[in-house]
Amino acid sequence: MTDPEHEGNPPQIERPYRPPSGEAFAERTAALSFLLAGAAGLGLGAVYWRGGQPQLEGLLLAVGFASLAYGLVTWGNRLMPTGPFVEERHSFGDFTQEQLFEEDLERAGAITRRRLLLRTLMLAAGGLGVAAIFPIRSLGPKPGRSLIVTPWRRGLRLVTDDGRPVRAADVPLGGLVTVFPEGYPGSADGQAVLVRTQPGVNIPLPGREDWAPDGYIVYSKVCTHAGCPVGLYEAASHQLLCPCHQSTFDVLHGANPVFGPAAARLPQLPIEISADGFLVARGDFSAPVGPAFWRRS
Ligand code: FES
Repeated sequence: MTDPEHEGNPPQIERPYRPPSGEAFAERTAALSFLLAGAAGLGLGAVYWRGGQPQLEGLLLAVGFASLAYGLVTWGNRLMPTGPFVEERHSFGDFTQEQLFEEDLERAGAITRRRLLLRTLMLAAGGLGVAAIFPIRSLGPKPGRSLIVTPWRRGLRLVTDDGRPVRAADVPLGGLVTVFPEGYPGSADGQAVLVRTQPGVNIPLPGREDWAPDGYIVYSKVCTHAGCPVGLYEAASHQLLCPCHQSTFDVLHGANPVFGPAAARLPQLPIEISADGFLVARGDFSAPVGPAFWRRS
C-alpha cells in the first residue's frame, strides 16, 4: 500500500542536519579558538608552577586572551541570528509535515552547535581560570605580626646607623639623632628620632611619665601620614617636621600632630639611661609605626 500523500514521488530520505558550509567553518573556528585559549591557560599555569618565565608567560597570556576574544567575536558575528526579526502570522494548517520536520532538524542543529561552543568555551574559561589562581602564590608569605611590631625590645641599646651605641651625654641639648635598635642598624620600621630637651619641659601622656628620662625623648621616625622619614627638628618650638607634606608634631605633647595632613601621633619609644650612661629601650613603640589610615586605634 502506498502513501497517498507521496504517491508518484520518489521516497524521501532523512538526512542529519548539516549547517551551511560557512556556518560550519565559523563554528569549527570558534571551537578551535576556545580550545586554544584553554590550552594556553593550562600552559601558563604549568610554566608558572615550574618557576615561571616572564616572556613565555606573557606570550601564553596573549595567545589565551586573543583566542578567547576571536572565538567570542566569531560566535557573535557569524553564528548568532542577525536581525531584523519578523515573525509572520500564520495558521498551523499552513505547515506541511516536511516543513515541520525540517524546522525540528534545524533547531536540533542549533542546539548541537550551541552545546559544542559552550563546552569549548567552558574549557577555555577553566584553563584561564586555573592560570589566574597561580599568581596568588606571588603574594608571598603572610605578614603576620610584622605590621604591628618592630625589632625594639626591652634592653636593646639605641645605636646610630653605623651600629654605635648612643651615650646620653653625647647628645647635644636641642639636638636630634636618628637611632636604631641594637643589632638592627638601618631597620626601616625600627628607625627613630632621639631629641634632647631641657629636663622638666616635657608634658608626658598619662602612663608615660617615666618614658623620657632627663629630657631624652624618642619617637618613631616614620611619618603617620604616608611613611616619609620625619627628619627635621626645630628646637626653639620643640616641633618635628616631615618634609614630604609638612606635617608637624609637638614633641612635648606626645608628638601630637599640630599641622599638616598627618592625623595620628608619632609612636613613642619608652627608654631609660643605663648605669654606664647609654640609652636603652624599655620595650617596643607605643603603637604600630607608619601610615595610620589603615588602622583604627
Ligand atoms: S608623609 Fe609626612 S606629611 Fe605626608
